[in-house]
Amino acid sequence: MNVILLGATGMIGHGALNAALTDTRVTRVLTVGRRPTGRTHPKLDECVAADLFDLSDHEETLAGFDACLFCLGVSSAGMEEEAYRRITYDLTLAVAQVLLRLNPDMTFVFVSGAGTNAGSRQMWARVKGETEEALSALPFGAVYHARPGFIQPVGGAVSRTMLYRAIYAVTSPLYPLLRRMAPNAMIDSDALGQALLEAGLAGAPKTTLEVPDLQALAKRAQRDGT
Ligand SMILES: NC(=O)c1ccc[n+]([C@@H]2O[C@H](COP(=O)([O-])OP(=O)(O)OC[C@H]3O[C@@H](n4cnc5c(N)ncnc54)[C@H](OP(=O)(O)O)[C@@H]3O)[C@@H](O)[C@H]2O)c1
Repeated sequence: MNVILLGATGMIGHGALNAALTDTRVTRVLTVGRRPTGRTHPKLDECVAADLFDLSDHEETLAGFDACLFCLGVSSAGMEEEAYRRITYDLTLAVAQVLLRLNPDMTFVFVSGAGTNAGSRQMWARVKGETEEALSALPFGAVYHARPGFIQPVGGAVSRTMLYRAIYAVTSPLYPLLRRMAPNAMIDSDALGQALLEAGLAGAPKTTLEVPDLQALAKRAQRDGT
């Protein structure tokens, strides 16, 4: 199967790219971003576009895919709603509409976040929730919303967000304890990548995927994709 990946230069995208490159069911991976990942692999092609709102020069490259793992996104910390909405909602929907037109049967997997709620008074949760709803209204083959909470970066995954890097640096000694105390609240970046890929390749029992659902999908990917 052929997989498109957005946000491959980020922490979650790193895990998703690892998963797609190692999974035996995947024949081709295309990353789409404003810069290349710098990684090389026989299955990997990279599509670099300075502005992802305009993919008109790349349409031929973007056709022929079964699944999209949409790991592109920003933290809302310190952002006004307009700027956060422009990336989270507008850019996601703009890319999704192009991919849908070129790949009508595609499965679209959106990385949302724990606590997402279109009715929330919290700006980020509302915008993510509205994005989930708008994506679900598009006639893709299937749409899934992954809602991870705390993510442990592993295998060289590094957040592009300085605030998150600082949080991970402080909390990393606590990971073993956190895992024991709250096993349903966290997932590592490689397992999350496997879960996203599994939903994209084989589907999931429900549309909104909370951490335990993601953990179960990661296990299924480890069983079926090796
Ligand atoms: N980290 C967490 O704990 C966590 C938890 C729950 C949900 N999430 C969600 O997961 C998503 C990804 O998180 P992450 O931790 O992997 O973030 P990250 O490490 O900061 O990576 C963000 C990715 O998005 C791309 N990107 C951001 N703005 C862009 C733009 N305007 N145009 C093109 N590409 C852009 C970045 O590309 P460049 O390399 O070009 O900047 C990078 O590939 C976000 O939506 C976030 O809300 C994260």
